[in-house]
Amino acid sequence: MAQTTTETAKPVDLTKPPAAGVVRVTFLPENRTVEFDYGTIPYDHHGKPMSFLDVAENFGIFLDHACGGSCACTTCHLWIKEGAAGLSEPDDDELDRIETAADVQLNSRLGCQAVITRPGSYVVEIPKWNRNYVSEGKPLTLTENK
Ligand code: FES
Repeated sequence: MAQTTTETAKPVDLTKPPAAGVVRVTFLPENRTVEFDYGTIPYDHHGKPMSFLDVAENFGIFLDHACGGSCACTTCHLWIKEGAAGLSEPDDDELDRIETAADVQLNSRLGCQAVITRPGSYVVEIPKWNRNYVSEGKPLTLTENK
Protein backbone atom coordinates (compact mmCIF):
# COMPACT_ATOMS: atom_id res chain seq x y z
CA MET A 1 0.00 0.00 0.00
CA ALA A 2 1.39 3.40 -1.00
CA GLN A 3 2.34 5.72 1.81
CA THR A 4 0.57 9.05 1.73
CA THR A 5 2.12 12.27 2.98
CA THR A 6 -1.10 13.78 4.24
CA GLU A 7 -2.13 12.45 7.62
CA THR A 8 -5.68 12.57 8.84
CA ALA A 9 -5.91 14.59 12.00
CA LYS A 10 -7.48 12.58 14.78
CA PRO A 11 -9.65 14.33 17.38
CA VAL A 12 -7.47 15.79 20.13
CA ASP A 13 -8.58 15.89 23.76
CA LEU A 14 -7.40 19.32 24.79
CA THR A 15 -8.47 18.77 28.40
CA LYS A 16 -5.43 16.50 28.86
CA PRO A 17 -1.74 17.04 28.14
CA PRO A 18 -0.31 15.05 25.23
CA ALA A 19 0.51 11.45 26.09
CA ALA A 20 4.11 10.32 26.51
CA GLY A 21 5.94 10.33 23.21
CA VAL A 22 3.29 12.43 21.50
CA VAL A 23 3.72 15.79 19.76
CA ARG A 24 0.77 18.16 19.89
CA VAL A 25 0.81 21.21 17.64
CA THR A 26 -1.84 23.93 17.58
CA PHE A 27 -1.87 26.32 14.65
CA LEU A 28 -3.44 29.71 15.41
CA PRO A 29 -5.53 31.61 14.50
CA GLU A 30 -7.24 28.65 12.82
CA ASN A 31 -7.01 26.87 16.17
CA ARG A 32 -6.33 23.55 14.52
CA THR A 33 -4.60 21.02 16.72
CA VAL A 34 -2.93 17.86 15.52
CA GLU A 35 -1.19 15.08 17.39
CA PHE A 36 1.18 12.35 16.32
CA ASP A 37 3.76 10.04 17.83
CA TYR A 38 7.15 11.75 17.76
CA GLY A 39 9.24 10.65 14.79
CA THR A 40 6.43 8.93 12.92
CA ILE A 41 5.21 11.40 10.31
CA PRO A 42 6.71 10.98 6.86
CA TYR A 43 8.93 13.77 5.58
CA ASP A 44 6.92 15.83 3.12
CA HIS A 45 9.97 17.45 1.48
CA HIS A 46 8.91 20.93 2.53
CA GLY A 47 11.34 22.57 4.93
CA LYS A 48 13.42 20.64 7.42
CA PRO A 49 12.08 17.27 8.58
CA MET A 50 9.84 17.75 11.64
CA SER A 51 9.67 21.50 11.05
CA PHE A 52 6.31 23.19 11.54
CA LEU A 53 6.02 23.41 7.76
CA ASP A 54 6.58 19.67 7.48
CA VAL A 55 3.90 19.06 10.12
CA ALA A 56 1.48 21.48 8.46
CA GLU A 57 1.96 19.86 5.07
CA ASN A 58 1.43 16.39 6.51
CA PHE A 59 -1.90 17.40 8.00
CA GLY A 60 -3.21 19.56 5.18
CA ILE A 61 -2.85 22.83 7.10
CA PHE A 62 -2.00 25.78 4.92
CA LEU A 63 1.27 27.50 5.81
CA ASP A 64 2.62 29.61 2.99
CA HIS A 65 6.11 28.64 1.81
CA ALA A 66 6.96 30.58 -1.32
CA CYS A 67 10.54 29.32 -1.51
CA GLY A 68 9.57 25.72 -0.90
CA GLY A 69 11.06 25.65 2.57
CA SER A 70 14.64 26.53 1.73
CA CYS A 71 15.07 29.54 4.06
CA ALA A 72 14.95 31.95 1.13
CA CYS A 73 11.77 33.92 1.93
CA THR A 74 9.75 34.77 5.04
CA THR A 75 6.29 33.58 4.05
CA CYS A 76 6.43 30.78 6.63
CA HIS A 77 7.00 33.24 9.50
CA LEU A 78 5.48 32.04 12.78
CA TRP A 79 5.28 33.28 16.33
CA ILE A 80 6.04 30.51 18.83
CA LYS A 81 3.47 30.83 21.59
CA GLU A 82 4.34 27.63 23.45
CA GLY A 83 7.06 25.00 23.24
CA ALA A 84 10.09 27.08 22.24
CA ALA A 85 12.34 25.02 24.53
CA GLY A 86 11.61 21.92 22.47
CA LEU A 87 12.72 23.46 19.18
CA SER A 88 16.02 23.45 17.35
CA GLU A 89 18.14 26.55 17.74
CA PRO A 90 17.93 28.89 14.74
CA ASP A 91 21.05 28.82 12.60
CA ASP A 92 22.70 31.89 11.09
CA ASP A 93 20.80 31.57 7.81
CA GLU A 94 17.45 31.58 9.62
CA LEU A 95 18.46 34.48 11.85
CA ASP A 96 19.56 36.52 8.85
CA ARG A 97 16.35 35.72 6.97
CA ILE A 98 13.94 36.31 9.83
CA GLU A 99 15.33 39.82 10.27
CA THR A 100 13.73 40.67 6.93
CA ALA A 101 10.24 39.48 7.93
CA ALA A 102 7.41 41.86 8.77
CA ASP A 103 6.42 42.22 12.42
CA VAL A 104 9.36 40.27 13.85
CA GLN A 105 9.04 39.50 17.54
CA LEU A 106 11.30 37.77 20.04
CA ASN A 107 9.36 34.55 19.45
CA SER A 108 9.56 34.71 15.66
CA ARG A 109 10.79 31.64 13.76
CA LEU A 110 10.62 30.40 10.22
CA GLY A 111 8.15 27.55 10.01
CA CYS A 112 10.36 25.65 7.58
CA GLN A 113 13.45 25.88 9.81
CA ALA A 114 12.14 25.50 13.37
CA VAL A 115 12.35 21.77 14.07
CA ILE A 116 10.43 19.98 16.80
CA THR A 117 13.10 18.03 18.67
CA ARG A 118 11.02 16.23 21.28
CA PRO A 119 7.50 15.24 22.23
CA GLY A 120 5.36 17.84 23.94
CA SER A 121 2.93 20.65 23.31
CA TYR A 122 3.56 23.41 20.78
CA VAL A 123 1.44 26.40 19.85
CA VAL A 124 2.28 28.63 16.90
CA GLU A 125 0.52 31.60 15.39
CA ILE A 126 0.64 32.64 11.77
CA PRO A 127 0.95 36.46 11.71
CA LYS A 128 -2.01 38.32 10.25
CA TRP A 129 -0.13 39.61 7.23
CA ASN A 130 0.87 36.04 6.44
CA ARG A 131 -2.56 34.48 6.56
CA ASN A 132 -3.03 34.10 2.87
CA TYR A 133 -5.79 31.59 3.04
CA VAL A 134 -9.54 31.52 2.78
CA SER A 135 -12.25 29.28 4.13
CA GLU A 136 -11.99 26.91 1.21
CA GLY A 137 -8.35 26.31 2.01
CA LYS A 138 -6.95 28.04 -1.03
CA PRO A 139 -4.43 30.82 -0.58
CA LEU A 140 -5.29 34.33 -1.54
CA THR A 141 -2.77 36.50 -3.26
CA LEU A 142 -1.34 39.27 -1.12
CA THR A 143 -3.33 41.84 -3.07
CA GLU A 144 -6.58 39.99 -2.42
CA ASN A 145 -5.79 39.85 1.27
CA LYS A 146 -5.83 43.62 1.84
S1 FES B 1 9.28 28.78 3.19
FE1 FES B 1 10.64 30.29 2.54
S2 FES B 1 11.80 30.65 4.33
FE2 FES B 1 10.40 29.14 4.99
